[in-house]
Amino acid sequence: MGSTQTADNSLYDTLSDSWWDERSLLNLLKTTVNPWRVPYFARLLAQHAAIDSPLNLLDVGCGGGLLAEEFASLNCYVTGIDPSEQSLVTARAHAQQQGLEIAYHCGFGDALPFPEASFDVVSCCDVLEHIEDWQATIAEISRVLKPGGLFLFDTINRTSYSWLVNIVIAQELPLTRFMPRNMHVWHMFITPDELRSGLRKHGLHQRDLVGASPKGSPLHALKAIRGFKRGHMTAEEVGAVASMRPSRNVRGSYMGYAVKPR
Ligand SMILES: C[S@@+](CC[C@H](N)C(=O)[O-])C[C@H]1O[C@@H](n2cnc3c(N)ncnc32)[C@H](O)[C@@H]1O
Repeated sequence: MGSTQTADNSLYDTLSDSWWDERSLLNLLKTTVNPWRVPYFARLLAQHAAIDSPLNLLDVGCGGGLLAEEFASLNCYVTGIDPSEQSLVTARAHAQQQGLEIAYHCGFGDALPFPEASFDVVSCCDVLEHIEDWQATIAEISRVLKPGGLFLFDTINRTSYSWLVNIVIAQELPLTRFMPRNMHVWHMFITPDELRSGLRKHGLHQRDLVGASPKGSPLHALKAIRGFKRGHMTAEEVGAVASMRPSRNVRGSYMGYAVKPR
């Protein structure tokens, strides 16, 4: 649990061509995390949208576009930004294949190259826990959001549970590990209280928080991950038995939204 290490974000360049590959680690975001967050975000977007007018949405830390494409399918004009240029090559190619128009830019969350008040919605999902000064990214998100705009997020809580699951089981134990070391670093995880006060400091009011639990039993999830690690199961097959579902348990991943007051 040392506190000097930072998350190794070069992994997103190394793994950049694998976002949409069903045998790849990054594809688990699509098959196990999207089933949890996309229906929740879709409901919020539907409530927020004015009739017949698509929302202008920025996805910060879009990677290969696994979530950006979902937003584009939900009648949003999507812009994605990520520092991994190589991931953006994959994102652009995939969106084109799907016939989706998404504007992808290379850049960091703490220096968004957009004028203030340019987006109805900004999302930043599974990203803040990868950024040392995540509050600088929140400040930028608040700046580019229109008054009345929505900020959608998910991230990982810093608890003994997340240390066990996300670090020890996922990255360290030889029998179970399926993620490279330092993909996540425990001390960079963010508690809901820290996030809430970071949002408030930058003028965003948090409105909701939803936790996550595995869809099946934890034992099923572990078995599926072992199968995936050995190449016996695809990410899709893992998702079928071990995707996340909304719950009140915020010991690990949690999602929510905040608004920028008018
Ligand atoms: C776990 S992936 C999440 C990808 C996508 N948001 C999703 O949920 O499918 C984390 C992403 O954050 C990006 N990232 C890392 N540091 C960042 C920063 N300072 N600003 C914006 N994005 C960053 C990485 O390049 C990577 O694509």
